[in-house]
Amino acid sequence: MSYQIELENLQKYYGAYHALRDVCLQIPKGQFVALVGPSGCGKSTLLRTIAGLEKITSGTMRIAGNPVNDKAPRERDLAMVFQSYALYPHMTVRQNLTYSMRLRRRPKSEIDKAVDEIARVTGLGELLDRYPRQLSGGQRQRVAMGRAIIRDPKAFLFDEPLSNLDAALRVHMRSEIRQLHNRLGATSVYVTHDQIEAMTMADQVVVMRSGVIEQKGAPLDLYDRPVNKFVAGFIGSPAMNFVDGVVSGGGTSIALDLPGKPEIAFEGHEQAAGRKVTVGLRPEHLVVGEGEAGNRMSLPVSLIERTGAVSYVLTDTTPGLLIAAPLRIEDGVGSVSVAIKPEHVHLFDQETGNALLHV
Ligand SMILES: Nc1ncnc2c1ncn2[C@@H]1O[C@H](COP(=O)(O)OP(=O)(O)OP(=O)(O)O)[C@@H](O)[C@H]1O
Ligand SMILES: [Mg+2]
Repeated sequence: MSYQIELENLQKYYGAYHALRDVCLQIPKGQFVALVGPSGCGKSTLLRTIAGLEKITSGTMRIAGNPVNDKAPRERDLAMVFQSYALYPHMTVRQNLTYSMRLRRRPKSEIDKAVDEIARVTGLGELLDRYPRQLSGGQRQRVAMGRAIIRDPKAFLFDEPLSNLDAALRVHMRSEIRQLHNRLGATSVYVTHDQIEAMTMADQVVVMRSGVIEQKGAPLDLYDRPVNKFVAGFIGSPAMNFVDGVVSGGGTSIALDLPGKPEIAFEGHEQAAGRKVTVGLRPEHLVVGEGEAGNRMSLPVSLIERTGAVSYVLTDTTPGLLIAAPLRIEDGVGSVSVAIKPEHVHLFDQETGNALLHV
């Protein structure tokens, strides 16, 4: 397997601060990779080291098979798209798009051909003679993308390119960027702190915390089999519920630390027998309604939020559980009957937070 971008054991220090810790990542050609994690975890730092804007302290970086540790940013042949777009305000869309080609003194016929092509893939054809101030946020974003595309780079690097846009436009632009990526057969690394954006856009999601890659994999693998409580809590919206519990001696049930100590029966998992655990329950796997199969419990209600399609029920327990019910629940309901399907239970070690098992 040859990779378009390959990172081996990257370490990055800012003085004494250890910003990237033994980062390893392999990105096949054509893949869309999303880097996610809380603010300050090192997403931008990692992207900037790939771009060559930051020097790594140690490790090896390869682009299209060639080591680039000592290569300057422009020798790496990557295109970076920032949230600020950084368009030239005094240039039209066409001039913005062709700036790098004009700088390299490409012949006019070649430039015109490239503009036609970019206008086609980005849908900017009607806007070529406008100035950036005459464009909407989404249109400016497309010019920034077009300017990157025209260089035909080895990979695209995005740092939160949509964070200035309103919610509806973000949703629209994320599918546009992904489609553009597919049409171009591009390789893309995309930084976002929005896990939904990461899940919906990426082939490979990389979850970071404090400079460490906690987990990387296909979006639904991370969702179904998070390696630890951190990833479990970060991926999924609304977030996974966590409740303490104790696994029975035979490993066939868990007593939850909730009112009435409800028990979840599950099939023989001896490796967890007798252990104190943190039980992870996704809001959509807590099923409201009498007819549902599974482990049943009645829980008091503290709040109901209705969105139309889904009712979010917060239980009046410690900890409060959030339930996502795909139905309308009336106001004034005092308690709900909840079923937990044993096949949707995640167990984590209480001390380390590492996953013990995903049923
Ligand atoms: N030039 C610098 N000198 C010292 N520390 C830095 C420098 N740049 C970044 N850091 C630190 O490195 C850590 C990672 O920063 P980085 O910008 O990569 O975070 P991020 O994951 O992109 O966060 P955000 O989501 O807020 O953009 C932070 O703690 C930050 O303070
Ligand atoms: Mg950042």
